[in-house]
Amino acid sequence: MIRVNEKTNCFHLTNGEISYVFCVDQQTSVLEHLYFGMAVNDRNYFEDLIEREVRPSNNLFVGSQTTSLEHIRQEFPMSSITDYRNPAIEIQYPSGDRISYFKYDRYEIYEGKKKIKGLPTSFGTEKECSTLVVYLKDSYSDIEVSLFYTIYRDLPIITRHCEVENRGEGNYYINQLMSAVLDLPECEYDFIHLNGAWAREMHLQRDTLIHGIQQIGSNRGASSHMHNPFFALCTPNACEQFGEFYGFSLIYSGNFIGEVEVDSYDVTRVRMGINPQDFKWRLGQGETFESPEVIMTFGKQGLNQMSQTFHSFFQKHLIDPNWANKKRPVLLNSWEGFYFDFKEEELIQTALEAKKLGIDLFVLDDGWFGERHSDDSSLGNWSENREKLPHGLSYLSEILHQNDMKFGLWFEPEMISTDTPLYKAHPDWLIGNPDKNISHGRNQYILDFGREEVVEEIFQQMDRILSTVQLEYIKWDMNRYITEPYSQALSADCQGEVMHRYILGVYQLYEKILQKYPNLLIESCAGGGARFDPGMLYYSPQIWTSDDTDAVERLSIQYGASFLYPISCIGSHVSTVPNHQVGRITSLATRANVAMFGTFGYELNLFSLGEGELSLISKQTKYYKEHQKLIMEGKFYRLKGDSIKSNEFAWMIVSNNQEEALVGWYQVLAKPNPGYQRLKLRGLNPDYFYAVEEKEFSGDLLMEIGLLAAKNYIGKEQEFWSRKKVGDFSSEIFYLKKVR
Ligand code: DGJ
Repeated sequence: MIRVNEKTNCFHLTNGEISYVFCVDQQTSVLEHLYFGMAVNDRNYFEDLIEREVRPSNNLFVGSQTTSLEHIRQEFPMSSITDYRNPAIEIQYPSGDRISYFKYDRYEIYEGKKKIKGLPTSFGTEKECSTLVVYLKDSYSDIEVSLFYTIYRDLPIITRHCEVENRGEGNYYINQLMSAVLDLPECEYDFIHLNGAWAREMHLQRDTLIHGIQQIGSNRGASSHMHNPFFALCTPNACEQFGEFYGFSLIYSGNFIGEVEVDSYDVTRVRMGINPQDFKWRLGQGETFESPEVIMTFGKQGLNQMSQTFHSFFQKHLIDPNWANKKRPVLLNSWEGFYFDFKEEELIQTALEAKKLGIDLFVLDDGWFGERHSDDSSLGNWSENREKLPHGLSYLSEILHQNDMKFGLWFEPEMISTDTPLYKAHPDWLIGNPDKNISHGRNQYILDFGREEVVEEIFQQMDRILSTVQLEYIKWDMNRYITEPYSQALSADCQGEVMHRYILGVYQLYEKILQKYPNLLIESCAGGGARFDPGMLYYSPQIWTSDDTDAVERLSIQYGASFLYPISCIGSHVSTVPNHQVGRITSLATRANVAMFGTFGYELNLFSLGEGELSLISKQTKYYKEHQKLIMEGKFYRLKGDSIKSNEFAWMIVSNNQEEALVGWYQVLAKPNPGYQRLKLRGLNPDYFYAVEEKEFSGDLLMEIGLLAAKNYIGKEQEFWSRKKVGDFSSEIFYLKKVR
């Protein structure tokens, strides 16, 4: 899949579906980006893709009358040598200057790919992918940069990351390092990304690309509620089914940027990597720094194709294979039902009732430890509160397991409250400068996870519980962002490392726990969706998508999440009404119809429900389990809706053999005397016939004309005045099964 022309130093990565081409510019020895798009035939030389123009008033490279790096489309641009656009790397030298000149040196190819040390990395066997490493040498130091490109055989995906190694003496500082930069020859694109805030995460945003810089990112210590480490560029006419797109996603959970810069010559520079703000890394003698990995995809069949590519890639090459396609337990989480206020007996009764309703896992959320009666206490003291749990966690777990109920527990491992023995013993373990203001968030402070001893202490505390209490699941929460980044363990010149070291420490704790407890299901969470990213997905096959559990709000959130995350990882619960975040009242049916397109669960007090509702929950869990394989493994199609403005949403999942499908249809506000509501389905086999609610329809007509979403009243006109109006927030799920 990787072809190299050694005479011309031209590299062509292709898997028959996409091609990625770059070469070494003969005059400057920098890497010149030539092409990323549909697969093209291999040739000896792609010289016709090289363009040069004489442009007065620009600075020229030494010894040339035409070459300015500003005019070359590059793979790894440097700062301050004739290219004024934002660079891939900026090094600060002992002299204080930031002038680098990285020239091509050599390359290497191997089958498969290697893990990036300390960072979540996508994987693939020797048969599934090939890796090209291009080595660049700095002309002014003994720093070497290695650029890694992995192309996958089964999907239109190329991943990139880089390493910087100080092979000389003395200290250098990396002021910024992108995981990938590439320059596209055009700029007529729309810029798509996921935008939000707490309780309204991942709303899709689409804007026309403009000259200048458009950037998304986070400097909060987590990928954040505000932006997701993902963006796409697509042709202005692109819709779900048609149109060209480029998709980019970063496997990282900390500070990041995704940036697009359109220059004066209509070239679009894409950059993605660790956010340079609050970042500066000292690279000592013999040391290497590795960037996180970027996933890049290209296609021509619209945005739904992009989503399906990301879904398949995450399922096959990022999520732990033990979980990727494994059915997840239907759960009941205690948070919205009890908050901090519960007693052992009520938990047991709740869990037993849940079992009767077909729920498999009871999750005890916040409030079970230390003196945790509200959010201002006890984080970092991970031992059970004996007032609430007089017989302890082990006893609770035993009772549940005797009744065939799995047990899960909430932790917020990265945080500390100041009323804990841990804080009293180690006040210096907090992030922040003790001589300056240290802000709190939700009354809590952040442990300096860049320190190994801190990670070890929290591991020991969690291990004490995990090794004595039978737990199948933990929910790993993180409820505030980092402020005032300062570590008392680092020297003055290394304070720019705090944010990245922190996230490395978080990953390290995940590794340690999963190494010892490989079968533990971890659901990651950060005050809802503040760390819903591919980095977390590597450790945690399902992620709590948002603290907003309102079914209508969830339509926009889950619609946005589906742009790149598989449905099998979108944590989604049925909660009570009036909803706790927005006060809206929706039917139990609609709440479940939304939550079923995710990892399904409940989060309410079962004893506040009537018999009718409990019996409906039984039916819902049964229905979900019947279709869980399809939901976990099928192909996802968005049919209707676009983020917050839509009144109607619809999506569907089709099994890989096209023999069954599940369609979800949702209407926000009801309309009087509406037109016919038809849903054009997708992904079916046009030659099959499908049974839908006891009638038969052909696959081709379901896709070309559509499924009637509302009831059909042929011959039942007398029902018009007596029929029940569905009202606002109505929804329907249709199950399609091949009959012939
Ligand atoms: C924020 C989470 O998103 C909620 O689900 C819940 O676990 C609370 N934290 C508990 O404090």
